[in-house]
Amino acid sequence: MALDLDRLRAETPGVAHRIHLNNAGASLMPAPVLETMIAHLRREAEIGGYEAAAEASERIDSIYDQVARLIGASRDEIALTPNATVAWQMAFYALSFREGDRILTTRAEYGANFVAYLQVARRTGAVIEIIPDDASGALDPDALERMIDGRVRLISITWIPTNGGLVNPAAEVGRIAKAHGIAYLLDACQAVGQMPVDVEAIGCDILSAPGRKFLRGPRGTGFLYVRRELMMRLEPPMIDHDGAHWAAPDRYELRPDARRFESWENNYAARLGLGAAIDYALAIGLAEIETRSRALASQLRDLLAEIPGVKLYDLGRDPAAIVSFSVARHDASAVKRHAAEHGINVSTSSPSSTLLDATARNLPTLVRASPHYFNTREDIEALARGVRTLG
Ligand SMILES: Cc1ncc(COP(=O)(O)O)c(C=O)c1O
Repeated sequence: MALDLDRLRAETPGVAHRIHLNNAGASLMPAPVLETMIAHLRREAEIGGYEAAAEASERIDSIYDQVARLIGASRDEIALTPNATVAWQMAFYALSFREGDRILTTRAEYGANFVAYLQVARRTGAVIEIIPDDASGALDPDALERMIDGRVRLISITWIPTNGGLVNPAAEVGRIAKAHGIAYLLDACQAVGQMPVDVEAIGCDILSAPGRKFLRGPRGTGFLYVRRELMMRLEPPMIDHDGAHWAAPDRYELRPDARRFESWENNYAARLGLGAAIDYALAIGLAEIETRSRALASQLRDLLAEIPGVKLYDLGRDPAAIVSFSVARHDASAVKRHAAEHGINVSTSSPSSTLLDATARNLPTLVRASPHYFNTREDIEALARGVRTLG
């Protein structure tokens, strides 16, 4: 079904001020998200924070159902977190590793994840190994299959990396992980809100995501999914008396759901905003969102490819809505500044956020333009024009 772009843009206050092509950083919140948050903050100011939460308790509780619906999970498999990294860390650090255990990951792995692998490797003697890429630059499932042996303890990959449009074959990895009974952790940061996500179809055991990126929720939100069977066996690396019931002076009992990974105090206005963002995305349709955002990204790649001195870096056969590029004689921050002077938001991606990939491909700091479905062809043309005028 075609999207009602006029309505969607009318519901996006930010488009009146900027051409926003930084949806991989943080998208523009639609009006229903903003209004939901403001209404809750107002109630907190009027009647008190605890009282406002009590008043909204049913809606706050149903956020778990909303996240579950978004990714095809059950509500007891969901924890709400302040960002994607905390979600990822809570699950990763709950896994136990011994000397010689193998952690298999991708070349385009996100920096926050990789430093955690390094820390765990240093502490435990586990080893980190990179799954080779295929000719298109995506993780090669055949190569992964060949790496499997009894010492592989975890397959942990990034679905869409932070530095480009590459989409790794998450479901094929899921089939391999399942066939060998290996835990599978999926960083879905740049995928959630950009395309349909179904944890059953993917076959991952753990998934982490933020609210603020393509999902268009508020900053300071995220969530964790852990498959029930695994979750019930995992002891969170840190607990409080909400995630674990203090049952007797010398004993606690972990909650029987993924909220064992949470702590007590939370930003309920933001959580409600996350719930509103999920409803908003589901009402539009994730398949429609994916089609349009990818088409805009592809249009941008075509226009940029015609500009002398522009180099595109996106890998994979069918790249998603993250376009990374460089412009000869202008560093990425100068391009970003120039775009901002023309009212256009883009971001940059530095080598340290994907160090292995940046080293292997000798990447400079890249300009990252990430359109979303509410952008227009004119937005895309405006960025291409801006880049062209850099000379
Ligand atoms: C691929 C990827 N993983 C993880 C993260 C971290 O997410 P957060 O900043 O919500 O912790 C990002 C953020 O840009 C990302 O792009």
